[in-house]
Amino acid sequence: MTISSAPGKIILFGEHAVVYGRPALAVPVMQVHADVEVSDSARRGVWIDAPAVGLQAELTTLPSDHPIASVINNLFFLSGVSPFPNLEVKISSTIPVAAGLGSGAAVTVALTRALAAHLNHAMTDEELNAFTYEIEKLHHGTPSGIDNTVVTYARPVYFVKSPAGEGDATTFTVGQPFTLVIGDTGISAPTRESVAVVRKLLESDPKYWDNVFDQVEEISFAARRVIEDGWLKMLGALMDENHMLLQEMTVSSAELDRLVEAARRAGALGAKLSGGGRGGNMIALVTPETAETVSLALKEAGARNTIITQVT
Ligand code: PMV
Repeated sequence: MTISSAPGKIILFGEHAVVYGRPALAVPVMQVHADVEVSDSARRGVWIDAPAVGLQAELTTLPSDHPIASVINNLFFLSGVSPFPNLEVKISSTIPVAAGLGSGAAVTVALTRALAAHLNHAMTDEELNAFTYEIEKLHHGTPSGIDNTVVTYARPVYFVKSPAGEGDATTFTVGQPFTLVIGDTGISAPTRESVAVVRKLLESDPKYWDNVFDQVEEISFAARRVIEDGWLKMLGALMDENHMLLQEMTVSSAELDRLVEAARRAGALGAKLSGGGRGGNMIALVTPETAETVSLALKEAGARNTIITQVT
Protein backbone atom coordinates (compact mmCIF):
# COMPACT_ATOMS: atom_id res chain seq x y z
CA MET A 1 0.00 0.00 0.00
CA THR A 2 1.26 3.52 -0.79
CA ILE A 3 -0.07 6.62 0.94
CA SER A 4 0.35 10.34 0.41
CA SER A 5 -1.06 13.53 1.87
CA ALA A 6 -1.22 17.14 0.64
CA PRO A 7 -2.27 20.28 2.55
CA GLY A 8 -4.86 22.90 1.72
CA LYS A 9 -3.85 26.45 0.82
CA ILE A 10 -5.14 29.94 1.30
CA ILE A 11 -4.48 33.06 -0.75
CA LEU A 12 -3.35 36.01 1.39
CA PHE A 13 -3.18 38.69 -1.33
CA GLY A 14 -3.60 39.17 -5.04
CA GLU A 15 -6.39 36.78 -6.10
CA HIS A 16 -7.92 37.62 -9.51
CA ALA A 17 -5.17 40.14 -10.33
CA VAL A 18 -2.84 37.12 -10.42
CA VAL A 19 -4.71 35.81 -13.47
CA TYR A 20 -3.47 38.95 -15.28
CA GLY A 21 0.19 38.65 -14.36
CA ARG A 22 0.22 40.48 -11.01
CA PRO A 23 1.84 38.80 -8.00
CA ALA A 24 -0.12 36.93 -5.35
CA LEU A 25 0.84 35.51 -1.97
CA ALA A 26 -0.45 32.21 -0.66
CA VAL A 27 0.38 29.85 2.19
CA PRO A 28 -0.31 26.19 2.95
CA VAL A 29 -2.96 25.31 5.53
CA MET A 30 -1.76 22.17 7.26
CA GLN A 31 -4.91 21.73 9.41
CA VAL A 32 -6.81 20.43 6.38
CA HIS A 33 -5.52 17.87 3.90
CA ALA A 34 -6.27 15.38 1.15
CA ASP A 35 -5.10 11.81 1.75
CA VAL A 36 -4.72 9.04 -0.81
CA GLU A 37 -4.12 5.35 -0.37
CA VAL A 38 -3.21 3.17 -3.37
CA SER A 39 -3.05 -0.61 -3.06
CA ASP A 40 -3.03 -3.63 -5.35
CA SER A 41 -6.46 -5.06 -5.92
CA ALA A 42 -7.69 -8.64 -6.16
CA ARG A 43 -10.48 -7.51 -8.51
CA ARG A 44 -9.97 -6.48 -12.09
CA GLY A 45 -9.79 -2.74 -12.82
CA VAL A 46 -8.96 0.46 -10.99
CA TRP A 47 -11.49 1.08 -8.25
CA ILE A 48 -11.82 4.61 -6.99
CA ASP A 49 -13.47 5.38 -3.68
CA ALA A 50 -13.73 9.11 -2.93
CA PRO A 51 -16.61 9.67 -0.49
CA ALA A 52 -15.79 13.39 -0.04
CA VAL A 53 -16.91 14.03 -3.63
CA GLY A 54 -19.48 11.21 -3.72
CA LEU A 55 -17.44 9.18 -6.17
CA GLN A 56 -17.29 5.39 -6.19
CA ALA A 57 -16.48 4.04 -9.62
CA GLU A 58 -14.24 1.93 -11.80
CA LEU A 59 -11.81 4.02 -13.85
CA THR A 60 -13.12 3.06 -17.31
CA THR A 61 -16.66 4.18 -16.42
CA LEU A 62 -15.52 7.79 -15.83
CA PRO A 63 -15.44 10.43 -18.58
CA SER A 64 -11.87 10.95 -19.81
CA ASP A 65 -11.87 14.62 -18.76
CA HIS A 66 -12.78 13.75 -15.17
CA PRO A 67 -9.87 15.18 -13.10
CA ILE A 68 -9.32 11.99 -11.08
CA ALA A 69 -9.56 9.73 -14.14
CA SER A 70 -7.26 12.08 -15.97
CA VAL A 71 -4.59 11.91 -13.23
CA ILE A 72 -4.67 8.10 -13.24
CA ASN A 73 -4.72 7.65 -17.03
CA ASN A 74 -1.93 10.18 -17.56
CA LEU A 75 0.21 8.60 -14.89
CA PHE A 76 -0.24 5.15 -16.38
CA PHE A 77 0.84 6.65 -19.69
CA LEU A 78 3.85 8.51 -18.24
CA SER A 79 5.10 5.52 -16.27
CA GLY A 80 4.68 3.23 -19.30
CA VAL A 81 2.97 0.57 -17.20
CA SER A 82 1.38 -2.17 -19.30
CA PRO A 83 -1.06 -3.81 -18.91
CA PHE A 84 -2.86 -1.44 -16.53
CA PRO A 85 -2.54 -2.74 -12.96
CA ASN A 86 -5.53 -3.66 -10.78
CA LEU A 87 -5.71 -1.08 -8.02
CA GLU A 88 -7.81 0.22 -5.16
CA VAL A 89 -7.57 4.01 -4.85
CA LYS A 90 -9.00 5.55 -1.67
CA ILE A 91 -9.26 9.34 -1.59
CA SER A 92 -10.34 11.25 1.48
CA SER A 93 -10.15 14.94 2.21
CA THR A 94 -10.93 17.33 5.04
CA ILE A 95 -10.57 20.33 2.69
CA PRO A 96 -13.94 21.95 1.89
CA VAL A 97 -14.70 21.74 -1.84
CA ALA A 98 -15.08 24.91 -3.97
CA ALA A 99 -14.21 27.12 -1.02
CA GLY A 100 -10.84 28.56 -2.02
CA LEU A 101 -8.77 26.09 -0.03
CA GLY A 102 -7.20 24.31 -2.96
CA SER A 103 -9.07 21.01 -2.55
CA GLY A 104 -8.74 20.07 -6.22
CA ALA A 105 -5.00 20.67 -6.32
CA ALA A 106 -4.48 18.83 -3.01
CA VAL A 107 -6.33 15.74 -4.27
CA THR A 108 -4.30 15.81 -7.49
CA VAL A 109 -0.96 16.21 -5.68
CA ALA A 110 -1.68 13.48 -3.11
CA LEU A 111 -3.07 11.12 -5.76
CA THR A 112 -0.20 11.71 -8.17
CA ARG A 113 2.45 11.23 -5.46
CA ALA A 114 0.83 8.03 -4.17
CA LEU A 115 0.33 6.56 -7.65
CA ALA A 116 3.78 7.53 -8.90
CA ALA A 117 5.39 5.92 -5.84
CA HIS A 118 3.21 2.83 -6.21
CA LEU A 119 4.22 2.48 -9.88
CA ASN A 120 7.90 3.25 -9.12
CA HIS A 121 7.73 6.28 -11.38
CA ALA A 122 10.15 8.98 -10.19
CA MET A 123 8.76 12.51 -10.34
CA THR A 124 10.40 15.74 -9.20
CA ASP A 125 8.37 18.45 -7.47
CA GLU A 126 8.76 20.58 -10.62
CA GLU A 127 7.25 17.79 -12.73
CA LEU A 128 4.49 17.21 -10.20
CA ASN A 129 3.69 20.93 -10.16
CA ALA A 130 3.46 21.13 -13.96
CA PHE A 131 1.37 17.94 -14.08
CA THR A 132 -1.02 19.27 -11.42
CA TYR A 133 -1.36 22.55 -13.32
CA GLU A 134 -2.60 20.62 -16.37
CA ILE A 135 -5.21 18.86 -14.21
CA GLU A 136 -6.20 22.19 -12.60
CA LYS A 137 -7.26 23.37 -16.04
CA LEU A 138 -9.99 20.70 -15.97
CA HIS A 139 -11.28 22.17 -12.70
CA HIS A 140 -10.87 25.89 -13.36
CA GLY A 141 -10.53 26.60 -17.07
CA THR A 142 -7.70 29.15 -16.89
CA PRO A 143 -6.09 28.76 -13.47
CA SER A 144 -3.18 31.00 -12.57
CA GLY A 145 -1.19 28.06 -11.19
CA ILE A 146 -1.01 29.33 -7.62
CA ASP A 147 -2.93 26.40 -6.07
CA ASN A 148 -0.76 23.65 -7.55
CA THR A 149 2.40 25.56 -6.62
CA VAL A 150 1.58 26.13 -2.94
CA VAL A 151 0.17 22.63 -2.49
CA THR A 152 3.09 20.90 -4.25
CA TYR A 153 5.80 22.71 -2.29
CA ALA A 154 3.76 23.17 0.94
CA ARG A 155 5.51 26.49 1.63
CA PRO A 156 4.53 30.19 1.53
CA VAL A 157 4.72 31.33 -2.07
CA TYR A 158 5.03 34.66 -3.88
CA PHE A 159 3.61 33.80 -7.22
CA VAL A 160 3.65 35.46 -10.63
CA LYS A 161 1.90 33.71 -13.49
CA SER A 162 4.09 33.16 -16.52
CA PRO A 163 2.70 33.33 -20.06
CA ALA A 164 3.31 29.56 -20.38
CA GLY A 165 1.14 28.93 -17.37
CA GLU A 166 3.02 27.22 -14.58
CA GLY A 167 4.21 30.50 -13.17
CA ASP A 168 7.18 31.76 -11.36
CA ALA A 169 7.08 31.03 -7.67
CA THR A 170 9.48 32.18 -5.03
CA THR A 171 9.11 31.16 -1.46
CA PHE A 172 9.35 33.97 1.05
CA THR A 173 10.35 33.99 4.68
CA VAL A 174 8.00 34.91 7.48
CA GLY A 175 9.82 37.40 9.75
CA GLN A 176 7.42 36.87 12.62
CA PRO A 177 4.89 34.00 12.65
CA PHE A 178 1.32 35.24 12.52
CA THR A 179 -2.13 33.83 13.12
CA LEU A 180 -5.07 33.78 10.73
CA VAL A 181 -8.66 32.83 11.26
CA ILE A 182 -10.26 31.41 8.13
CA GLY A 183 -14.04 31.79 8.04
CA ASP A 184 -16.15 29.72 5.66
CA THR A 185 -19.38 31.29 4.36
CA GLY A 186 -20.61 27.78 3.60
CA ILE A 187 -21.55 29.01 0.14
CA SER A 188 -20.01 27.00 -2.64
CA ALA A 189 -18.75 29.31 -5.36
CA PRO A 190 -16.94 27.87 -8.39
CA THR A 191 -13.74 29.79 -9.10
CA ARG A 192 -14.32 29.38 -12.84
CA GLU A 193 -17.41 31.61 -12.59
CA SER A 194 -15.87 34.46 -10.61
CA VAL A 195 -12.83 34.42 -12.90
CA ALA A 196 -15.19 34.76 -15.88
CA VAL A 197 -16.97 37.71 -14.23
CA VAL A 198 -13.69 39.58 -13.73
CA ARG A 199 -12.59 38.78 -17.28
CA LYS A 200 -15.82 40.42 -18.55
CA LEU A 201 -15.09 43.52 -16.47
CA LEU A 202 -11.57 43.72 -17.86
CA GLU A 203 -12.82 43.36 -21.43
CA SER A 204 -15.41 46.10 -20.87
CA ASP A 205 -12.81 48.69 -19.74
CA PRO A 206 -9.21 47.39 -19.96
CA LYS A 207 -7.59 50.65 -18.89
CA TYR A 208 -9.63 51.04 -15.74
CA TRP A 209 -9.28 47.43 -14.58
CA ASP A 210 -5.60 47.24 -15.43
CA ASN A 211 -5.18 50.14 -13.06
CA VAL A 212 -7.13 48.30 -10.34
CA PHE A 213 -4.90 45.24 -10.86
CA ASP A 214 -1.85 47.53 -10.58
CA GLN A 215 -3.11 48.69 -7.19
CA VAL A 216 -3.45 45.05 -6.10
CA GLU A 217 0.09 44.47 -7.31
CA GLU A 218 1.38 47.27 -5.07
CA ILE A 219 -0.45 45.74 -2.12
CA SER A 220 1.01 42.25 -2.77
CA PHE A 221 4.45 43.72 -3.20
CA ALA A 222 4.20 45.67 0.07
CA ALA A 223 2.68 42.66 1.87
CA ARG A 224 5.64 40.48 1.03
CA ARG A 225 8.06 43.00 2.55
CA VAL A 226 5.85 43.52 5.57
CA ILE A 227 5.65 39.76 6.20
CA GLU A 228 9.39 39.35 5.75
CA ASP A 229 10.02 42.21 8.17
CA GLY A 230 7.30 41.16 10.65
CA TRP A 231 5.27 44.42 10.77
CA LEU A 232 1.93 42.82 11.45
CA LYS A 233 -0.17 45.97 12.01
CA MET A 234 0.64 47.09 8.50
CA LEU A 235 -0.30 43.67 7.18
CA GLY A 236 -3.85 44.04 8.50
CA ALA A 237 -4.25 47.41 6.79
CA LEU A 238 -3.07 45.90 3.50
CA MET A 239 -5.68 43.14 3.84
CA ASP A 240 -8.42 45.73 4.31
CA GLU A 241 -7.25 47.60 1.20
CA ASN A 242 -7.13 44.43 -0.88
CA HIS A 243 -10.67 43.56 0.22
CA MET A 244 -11.93 46.94 -1.01
CA LEU A 245 -10.46 46.31 -4.44
CA LEU A 246 -12.02 42.84 -4.54
CA GLN A 247 -15.37 44.41 -3.66
CA GLU A 248 -14.87 46.71 -6.60
CA MET A 249 -14.25 43.67 -8.81
CA THR A 250 -17.71 42.48 -7.64
CA VAL A 251 -16.33 39.22 -6.28
CA SER A 252 -17.31 39.83 -2.66
CA SER A 253 -20.83 39.10 -1.40
CA ALA A 254 -23.12 40.17 1.43
CA GLU A 255 -22.06 37.10 3.44
CA LEU A 256 -18.34 37.68 2.89
CA ASP A 257 -18.67 41.36 3.78
CA ARG A 258 -20.60 40.46 6.93
CA LEU A 259 -17.85 38.07 8.08
CA VAL A 260 -15.10 40.57 7.24
CA GLU A 261 -16.89 43.27 9.28
CA ALA A 262 -17.54 40.91 12.20
CA ALA A 263 -13.87 39.93 12.33
CA ARG A 264 -12.74 43.55 12.38
CA ARG A 265 -15.25 44.46 15.10
CA ALA A 266 -14.03 41.51 17.20
CA GLY A 267 -10.46 42.86 17.12
CA ALA A 268 -8.90 41.45 13.95
CA LEU A 269 -6.03 43.60 12.62
CA GLY A 270 -7.48 43.29 9.10
CA ALA A 271 -9.69 41.01 7.04
CA LYS A 272 -10.51 40.17 3.44
CA LEU A 273 -12.13 37.57 1.27
CA SER A 274 -9.74 34.93 0.00
CA GLY A 275 -9.75 33.10 -3.33
CA GLY A 276 -12.37 33.31 -6.04
CA GLY A 277 -14.95 35.03 -3.83
CA ARG A 278 -18.77 35.28 -4.09
CA GLY A 279 -18.76 32.63 -1.37
CA GLY A 280 -16.04 30.39 -0.04
CA ASN A 281 -13.70 31.76 2.58
CA MET A 282 -12.47 34.96 4.16
CA ILE A 283 -9.39 35.45 6.31
CA ALA A 284 -8.73 37.64 9.33
CA LEU A 285 -5.36 38.57 10.79
CA VAL A 286 -5.43 38.09 14.56
CA THR A 287 -3.10 37.82 17.52
CA PRO A 288 -2.92 34.56 19.50
CA GLU A 289 -4.97 36.41 22.19
CA THR A 290 -7.80 37.49 19.87
CA ALA A 291 -7.97 34.33 17.72
CA GLU A 292 -10.72 32.61 19.72
CA THR A 293 -12.81 35.79 20.08
CA VAL A 294 -12.64 36.46 16.34
CA SER A 295 -13.42 32.83 15.53
CA LEU A 296 -16.50 32.98 17.79
CA ALA A 297 -17.61 36.30 16.30
CA LEU A 298 -17.36 34.80 12.81
CA LYS A 299 -19.54 31.85 13.82
CA GLU A 300 -22.08 34.23 15.38
CA ALA A 301 -22.09 36.21 12.12
CA GLY A 302 -22.95 33.04 10.19
CA ALA A 303 -19.65 31.31 9.38
CA ARG A 304 -20.26 27.62 8.88
CA ASN A 305 -16.79 26.75 10.03
CA THR A 306 -13.58 28.45 11.11
CA ILE A 307 -9.96 27.34 11.09
CA ILE A 308 -7.25 29.00 13.17
CA THR A 309 -3.90 28.61 11.47
CA GLN A 310 -0.34 29.80 12.14
CA VAL A 311 1.71 31.11 9.23
CA THR A 312 5.35 30.30 9.88
O1 PMV B 1 -10.75 30.13 -5.00
P1 PMV B 1 -9.33 29.71 -5.13
O2 PMV B 1 -8.61 29.66 -3.86
O3 PMV B 1 -9.14 28.53 -6.01
O4 PMV B 1 -8.56 30.90 -5.79
C1 PMV B 1 -8.87 31.44 -7.00
C2 PMV B 1 -7.88 32.51 -7.23
C3 PMV B 1 -8.08 33.26 -8.52
O5 PMV B 1 -7.05 34.21 -8.57
C4 PMV B 1 -9.42 33.97 -8.51
C5 PMV B 1 -8.01 32.33 -9.72
C6 PMV B 1 -6.67 31.73 -9.94
O6 PMV B 1 -6.61 30.78 -10.73
O7 PMV B 1 -5.65 32.20 -9.40
